Amino acid sequence: SYIKETETEIVLTHPRDSSTSVRILKYGATILSWKVKGQEQLWLSEKAILDGSKAVRGGIPLVFPVFGKSEGHETSQLPQHGFARNSVWEFLGQVESDPLTVQFGLGPENISETARCQWPHDFTLIFTVSLPSEDSLSTSLEVENTDKQPWEFNVLFHTYFRIPDITQTHVEGLTGTQVTDKVSKTNYAGNEAKITIAGEVDRVYSSPSTPDSVAIVSGSKTLFNVQNLQNLKDVVVWNPWTEKANGLADFSPKDGFKNMICVETGSVSKYQTVAPGAKWSASQTLKSHL
Ligand code: BG6
Repeated sequence: SYIKETETEIVLTHPRDSSTSVRILKYGATILSWKVKGQEQLWLSEKAILDGSKAVRGGIPLVFPVFGKSEGHETSQLPQHGFARNSVWEFLGQVESDPLTVQFGLGPENISETARCQWPHDFTLIFTVSLPSEDSLSTSLEVENTDKQPWEFNVLFHTYFRIPDITQTHVEGLTGTQVTDKVSKTNYAGNEAKITIAGEVDRVYSSPSTPDSVAIVSGSKTLFNVQNLQNLKDVVVWNPWTEKANGLADFSPKDGFKNMICVETGSVSKYQTVAPGAKWSASQTLKSHL
């Protein structure tokens, strides 16, 4: 079988190439590992906590129903990035064999009493993971309102890409954007063809003019494309650099920021509304050029 389930994890292996695999923790439905040609494509902290006591530092945590910490909104009681990344999801099994596709589900019965009180809405989330090819990984999230009232939410795939050297790396495809810079606390028009990282970066790039050409490039070599974006109009670029990494207990090694870059697709600059009985979904495909 190409799908292995343990008490805590699911491992998928590509049916035609066993050197491609993906490992998903039921806690947070967090993708912990994605290997192409046997090589790890995602960054996971050596001190990431995987026992379900804290959101995972690395891989692809899921952000829902709030990005960051909100104020004066119906999500403002919730902790940073919401509850999806620190709730245990139900494994719903395989839904397709070609491409190999599995699903996870989350509903009010799966979240903590505390989260339920902080955000008392009825919902169903379906997270779908598939391996469309030997060198690509797709994730999608369907959000269903099973309540009697509309509610608002953010969604984000918080992907930590593994890269050889941050000083040689840049991000392309984020021109024509409106930028919210959380470090300098400024807003400006984003028109840089190449975004380089030489210090702490924490920015939201909204509505790129060519949303399907986001690339992570090392020197002149494209490492990854983030593509086939559906309903994901924002791209967050995050690197904690030295000081911030030092302040994060579960970030290890401390110079690990040199080998990671978060390029996170989401719907976060505005809240999305979903009417009672309605569904909304978002998806992305990550392509590795290894
Ligand atoms: C990013 C945010 O998405 O996630 C940053 O833009 C934040 O502000 C980072 O620091 C990590 O968040 P956390 O909660 O996992 O430490």
